[in-house]
Amino acid sequence: MQPIETALTDCSLELEEKIRGRTASVGILGLGYVGLPLAVEFAKAGFPVTGIEVNLDKVAAVNAGESYVLDVPGPSLRPLVAAGALRATADFSVLADLDTVNICVPTPLRKTKDPDMSFVEAACREVSKHLHPGMLIILESTTYPGTTDEFVLPMLGQPGVRVGEEFFLCFSPERVDPGNPSFQTANIPKVVGGITPECTRLGTLFYAQALQEVVPVSSTRVAEMVKLLENTFRMINIGLANEMALMCGRIGINVWEVIDAAATKPFGFMPFYPGPGLGGHCIPIDPFYLSWKTRQAGIEARFIELAGYINGQMPMFVVEKVQNALNDRSRPVRGSHIHIVGVAYKRNIDDIRESPALDIMHLLKKRGARLTYTDPYVPDLTVDGLRLSAQPMETAAAADCVVIITDHSAFDYPRLVECARLIVDTRNALKPFTSDKIVRL
Ligand SMILES: NC(=O)c1ccc[n+]([C@@H]2O[C@H](COP(=O)([O-])OP(=O)(O)OC[C@H]3O[C@@H](n4cnc5c(N)ncnc54)[C@H](O)[C@@H]3O)[C@@H](O)[C@H]2O)c1
Repeated sequence: MQPIETALTDCSLELEEKIRGRTASVGILGLGYVGLPLAVEFAKAGFPVTGIEVNLDKVAAVNAGESYVLDVPGPSLRPLVAAGALRATADFSVLADLDTVNICVPTPLRKTKDPDMSFVEAACREVSKHLHPGMLIILESTTYPGTTDEFVLPMLGQPGVRVGEEFFLCFSPERVDPGNPSFQTANIPKVVGGITPECTRLGTLFYAQALQEVVPVSSTRVAEMVKLLENTFRMINIGLANEMALMCGRIGINVWEVIDAAATKPFGFMPFYPGPGLGGHCIPIDPFYLSWKTRQAGIEARFIELAGYINGQMPMFVVEKVQNALNDRSRPVRGSHIHIVGVAYKRNIDDIRESPALDIMHLLKKRGARLTYTDPYVPDLTVDGLRLSAQPMETAAAADCVVIITDHSAFDYPRLVECARLIVDTRNALKPFTSDKIVRL
């Protein structure tokens, strides 16, 4: 890594000393899927960490040493809280005593697919009230390029307080992949770009204390764009895999077999898989932050719009598969009992945000189906005002059709194939099985 050349000030030297000595008071604003694991890593590295969170249940849980994030097991949180290394609060005045603040609040889309910056705005408003010399602020929420310098900096800037000299501002995209057993906050390389070289230097130094690898880049805009490239790459390639599935479905080819065989090519191909539609807080949303921004610059992000359209068709495609499979057995969807297997947006996690299962259940309900579901991670959910509780997998035996939406590892697939009458498998979870009752995407 090239040393970053920069002008040092008293504020930066003092902050550097605190970071190196791990005495800097670290603040994490927003203790969700991103913020809580990050808070734990800095507490483990020896920093005194304060999480600031508006949800009082989360504040109480953290202070009781109880984790509500699957990737943060209770046994790793409890000793840190007991030792006083990590605490949570809803009181923003603590910002006045913090040396660093990582902002990890949601960045959803509005109904119009425009960025909803209200959470970032609210967080920055609080930080600006308590901004003080020597403070390092890092935005981690995924957002459009230009957010940190155009939106956050003007909110923080106070007359006579200079960024890069008296306070320091960076963007560092969070790349956490919930449920990934190999890569978690500590060992995912951390990209960081500052408003000035000194901001980048201090941001890099800060993360290097707790995380295994830090990748400095030349600006906040580059750091913001890195995250959008990563997620847009994924969204577009999933869109291609989904379009392949739509085409293969029409001409009677097993798309899964095609992808597996193509993946044997040792270069120039990376497999992506079709599915029931995009879910989660990142892949279906982040690319639209980019297209919103580029539209203002007069460029239509056509790949993004097209992939968004194709991915958005998948829940309906699944419903049509279910409808056709039932019709082949002389049953209409109306009045049929349809059992959904897995409702989280992806395997082995408990998050149902933007889950395609919700769209599919909504469409099936509208067509008059009776719905039940199984998911060990999601005890209950609401579809169009209908409250449902998770049922045991045995319920599948009574259903007219079972639809596998999420392929959790905990499911007993041999048992499911044995007991179900008809299964629509949107994830190729039943790859090893051959049976007339299985309909694949
Ligand atoms: N979840 C992921 O897999 C993931 C991965 C990479 C990046 N991201 C990005 O990270 C950001 C956070 O995502 P997340 O999944 O952790 O969201 P989350 O909803 O799990 O957590 C955000 C937390 O911020 C709190 N909050 C909201 N407004 C606040 C405020 N003004 N002050 C203090 N706390 C506030 C919420 O109560 C919530 O607990 C988003 O921009 C997301 O796109 C998420």
